Amino acid sequence: MKLRLIILSAILLLAPACKRSSGPKDLVVYFSHTGTTETLAGIFAQQTGAEMLRLECEEAYPDSFEATLAISGEEIRDAVGRPLKNCKVDLEPYNTIYIGYPVWYGTIPPPVRTFVTDNDMGGKKVVIFCTYGSGGLKSSSRTLEDLMPETEIAGRFGIAARRMEHAAEEVAAFLAGSGKAVSDSDEGYSEPRSAEGSDLEVFRSATAGYAYLNLVPFMVSVREEPGLTSWIFVCESSMGDSPTRKVEVLILQKEGEEPYLQSVEKI
Ligand SMILES: Cc1cc2nc3c(=O)[nH]c(=O)nc-3n(C[C@H](O)[C@H](O)[C@H](O)COP(=O)(O)O)c2cc1C
Repeated sequence: MKLRLIILSAILLLAPACKRSSGPKDLVVYFSHTGTTETLAGIFAQQTGAEMLRLECEEAYPDSFEATLAISGEEIRDAVGRPLKNCKVDLEPYNTIYIGYPVWYGTIPPPVRTFVTDNDMGGKKVVIFCTYGSGGLKSSSRTLEDLMPETEIAGRFGIAARRMEHAAEEVAAFLAGSGKAVSDSDEGYSEPRSAEGSDLEVFRSATAGYAYLNLVPFMVSVREEPGLTSWIFVCESSMGDSPTRKVEVLILQKEGEEPYLQSVEKI
């Protein structure tokens, strides 16, 4: 009897250790220029137990924002990747791969293009995550998904850099399944109507820090769910010398909190 108890205790003690060493592993692979996406990658790794891999360019982008804009702008226009020091990765041991990046020009940065074109992502389960100034999860993930058509996309997560203090709680909600609806589903919204009255108050409060986008709202659709109200405003946006464009602005308000801008997406 005593011997059986000792053996049973030993099995129970060893079981978690065995699971850690032999079970399927997950990988968080990410590119980050100024560290915001790296912080988000760390949160994903911490909450999922995944390993982390930072994509390193053979020649790093300059520290200057303007110079990086110019260099990456050309690469993105020509749809070319940027050579990586660690371009080939053995993905075989991994079950789910979390791919993270900052949105650049509404799309994926060139080093991420290199990673997905140089590695066979077929048959893998991928979760996409990104950080951005104002938005671009939808447009960037479309580009990424086109580059890996055989891959199952298990979820997409995006957060504005200025909201990073909420990242841990939002990643937890996303991983638990409830966050997916926030960015992925357009279902359940009211018919579009002219934006006026209280809609405009919400809009002004949530977009106060985004004056540079010169947003002019004209239509709005609303969705009410327990604990969350979502607005999609159809707006015009004009930045600098660029031509005016039509965008969708997603604003969220959790119960008892202020409304905030979740994302701006080009229509
Ligand atoms: C070259 C470049 C292009 C960018 N383009 C966009 C953009 O199209 N939309 C946007 O919302 N933010 C844009 N941003 C802002 C970044 O996505 C944002 O600051 C991000 O959180 C930076 O992440 P990182 O610190 O991991 O590099 C751009 C930044 C750079 C440097």
